[in-house]
Amino acid sequence: MKFFVDTANLDQIKEAKDFGILDGVTTNPSLMAKEGIAGAKAVEDHYKAICEIVDGDVSAEVISTNFQGIIDEGEYLASLAPNIVVKVPMIKDGVKALSYFAGKGIRTNCTLVFSAGQAILAAKAGATYLSPFIGRVDDTSWDGIQLISDIAEIYAIQGYETEILAASIRNAKHIVDAAKAGADVVTCPLSSILGLLKHPLTDIGLAKFLADHAKANG
Ligand code: E4P
Repeated sequence: MKFFVDTANLDQIKEAKDFGILDGVTTNPSLMAKEGIAGAKAVEDHYKAICEIVDGDVSAEVISTNFQGIIDEGEYLASLAPNIVVKVPMIKDGVKALSYFAGKGIRTNCTLVFSAGQAILAAKAGATYLSPFIGRVDDTSWDGIQLISDIAEIYAIQGYETEILAASIRNAKHIVDAAKAGADVVTCPLSSILGLLKHPLTDIGLAKFLADHAKANG
């Protein structure tokens, strides 16, 4: 399973890369706004800066919601760097654009996915990645991990090649559960990835090993 960080923060992206587990980055308009990135030039410079740090795929989301706008914006974003993946919302014109981009060899990430039906449509349209939002599904008292599991089962039965990119991850358990449910990729805040490190028995065991070593070695 690949690990992407879900942030537009360059320091966090660098930290994830230094940690040695980074396969890619996802961003969205909210994450870009959080970093104060506004205006076409700033957006362009920021994506170029991310792509200079990261060798893997970097999802850049379109703002347009009509077919021609999505195409124009997506082609511009894809021209910024070879590892840019155009992130397209799960709307009618978005699905049409996924199909167009697939025909042009431009890789895509279909975002804002909340049902297995939407996942089938995106795969039919040739999306490279599919982003079901686990945390936001859980927030509505439904089961985000079950959604990943259902999509993984359908994609396996149907032989769809779209990769399941589990998004809206809120904690380390989501990562483990997404892996069990068949996600190809998880995208999450760095804090959730670092949360995988934690176990009290590791801390207790290490303290005992170091104490025994110190006693034996003076
Ligand atoms: C990633 O592609 C999504 O935009 C992101 O994971 C959404 O996460 P959130 O629900 O925590 O905002």
